[in-house]
Amino acid sequence: MTDSELGGLIARRIALTGPISLADFMAEALGHPRLGYYRHATPVGAAGDFTTAPEISQMFGELLGAWLAERWLAMGRPAPVRLVELGPGRGTLMADALRATRGVPGFHAALELHLVETNEPMRAAQRNALRGFAPGIAPTWHERFDTVPEGPLLLVANEFFDALPVRQFHRTPRGWVERMVGIDENGALRLALAPGLSPFARLLPEAAVDAEAEICEAGQALAAAIGDRIARHGGWALIIDYSGEMAGRAASLQAVRSHRGADILDRPGETDLSAHVDFAALAKASGVASFGPVGQGAFLRELGIAERSEALKRKATPEQVRAIDAASARLIAPEQMGTLFRVLALGDSKSAPPVGFSDIPPSSDIPSDAT
Ligand SMILES: C[S@@+](CC[C@H](N)C(=O)[O-])C[C@H]1O[C@@H](n2cnc3c(N)ncnc32)[C@H](O)[C@@H]1O
Repeated sequence: MTDSELGGLIARRIALTGPISLADFMAEALGHPRLGYYRHATPVGAAGDFTTAPEISQMFGELLGAWLAERWLAMGRPAPVRLVELGPGRGTLMADALRATRGVPGFHAALELHLVETNEPMRAAQRNALRGFAPGIAPTWHERFDTVPEGPLLLVANEFFDALPVRQFHRTPRGWVERMVGIDENGALRLALAPGLSPFARLLPEAAVDAEAEICEAGQALAAAIGDRIARHGGWALIIDYSGEMAGRAASLQAVRSHRGADILDRPGETDLSAHVDFAALAKASGVASFGPVGQGAFLRELGIAERSEALKRKATPEQVRAIDAASARLIAPEQMGTLFRVLALGDSKSAPPVGFSDIPPSSDIPSDAT
């Protein structure tokens, strides 16, 4: 399947240099400087390929804003504090979070806003969404988290880590082998297992023949970089993403185009690719205290989504009331986004524990024989 310009380029590269890992394929398909999906597409929203929690309801960004402001207070009100969003999409989450925290004394004055975004059309949408907060809070854009200046950190990432490249492995009777992207006799892209055993096997669990596994090296490296900032300067990070119980221990990479499933190799650069996020691996890589993951539904309920929804409904028309109820259900109902989407907090051990995770003890309190 090479039916896109980028598919043709990838197939030519494979013809010249041999099969590539799924992670390399995903990095090209999403990040190729000219043709990558996240370089040019405007994927989020009804007209795009999928929708996201902040686009479903303003309550999502508002409650996350309250969480971030509360963490700032718990940290002792550092100023300046780097407020960072990874992959801000249309800027909706950040706009709602900032609007909801206008009344927190000193918070906005302490903020320095940094947005990590590779996509030009998305940056334009973010500029537009955040226009109302300038010049007091004017965003600085970054290609990567590494260039955000050092200092106390408040970070949020919704549906960002799932777009980072994963390697995929299959357990054969001989041991773990990596799934690669090659070409068939017609030059079309196809999946095939590498002939030899994978050197990554030492990082993979013991498993029965035919088991699958995924490793997201980029996600773990980013979690380590975030953890390093938190350990040195203090701070909190909130990561929300979709992730099943089997994340890391299953083949979860999937493709979506125009709100429909597609083949992973189909039309690279025009198709969204994402994989379940292995939160346990991120928490471990961060090296700092972690809370959760908890279901998005439980998290938002503890943050007060019911009360916020009632407040909005008091000023709403009957039609708006129905829309608020439907959006709320979509965000928290177990059969919708309530359990498939999960929330992880990373933070410094100096500030008090965060809201939203009360039924889960922090990782450092879990006895070592409990896993
Ligand atoms: C799935 S969208 C989520 C958008 C937003 N967080 C939301 O909830 O609506 C992923 C976002 O991350 C950006 N993105 C994807 N990969 C990226 C990367 N490697 N570096 C920086 N931004 C990236 C995309 O352009 C997009 O804004």
